[in-house]
Amino acid sequence: MTLQLRVYVPEHPLIRHWLAVARDANTPSVLFKSAMTELGRWLTYEAARTWLPTLETTVQTPLTECAATYINPEIPVGVVPILRAGLVLLDGAQNILPLAAIYHLGLARNEETLEPSCYLNKLPPQLSPETKILILEPMLATGGSIMMAMQEIISRGATADNIRIVAIVAAPPALRKLSEHYPKLEIYTAIIDEGLNSNGYIVPGLGDAGDRAFGT
Ligand code: URA
Repeated sequence: MTLQLRVYVPEHPLIRHWLAVARDANTPSVLFKSAMTELGRWLTYEAARTWLPTLETTVQTPLTECAATYINPEIPVGVVPILRAGLVLLDGAQNILPLAAIYHLGLARNEETLEPSCYLNKLPPQLSPETKILILEPMLATGGSIMMAMQEIISRGATADNIRIVAIVAAPPALRKLSEHYPKLEIYTAIIDEGLNSNGYIVPGLGDAGDRAFGT
């Protein structure tokens, strides 16, 4: 699969471990949710590395003045969890980005057509082009929901270059769609899986992330 966008799969034992826990069909709901929180935390940490805006300045230590780097408070940062399943990544992401605004986006997938529809949109009417946006979408499957989320965010003024996606499992159909439309996008995921089954579920995947996290 040749893609223009960049997909990062961080090589880290903690990410490997929590992915294994999340994949295991015998993992109970409460532990599944913990695994997703941990994955959200570490993937957000990785995504922030080259995306979080910084400010170079100086600081006075007890001994002398020296160069210092802070997070730049002038550049707005927003996190967009795609409901329902994106909520399970939010605790971990907020732990890393406690000052980010949270813009909930509720997208439901029609299980027959696999097409998404929007039932909740807490994005502000306008986003400045330099706003840094992190989208939380655990399963990048057909790409329908993530494409709709990207359109909603970009139509409000954000630029694709400033958007990062944190996903737990990514499948080729969604990656191909995103790459075609947003070649400069960066995605952080725990794994790229083989493909989808006839119901649009990622294989081997981890099942329905929302159902497993919320016990439904
Ligand atoms: N949504 C899920 O929760 N799981 C999949 O495998 C695909 C979409």
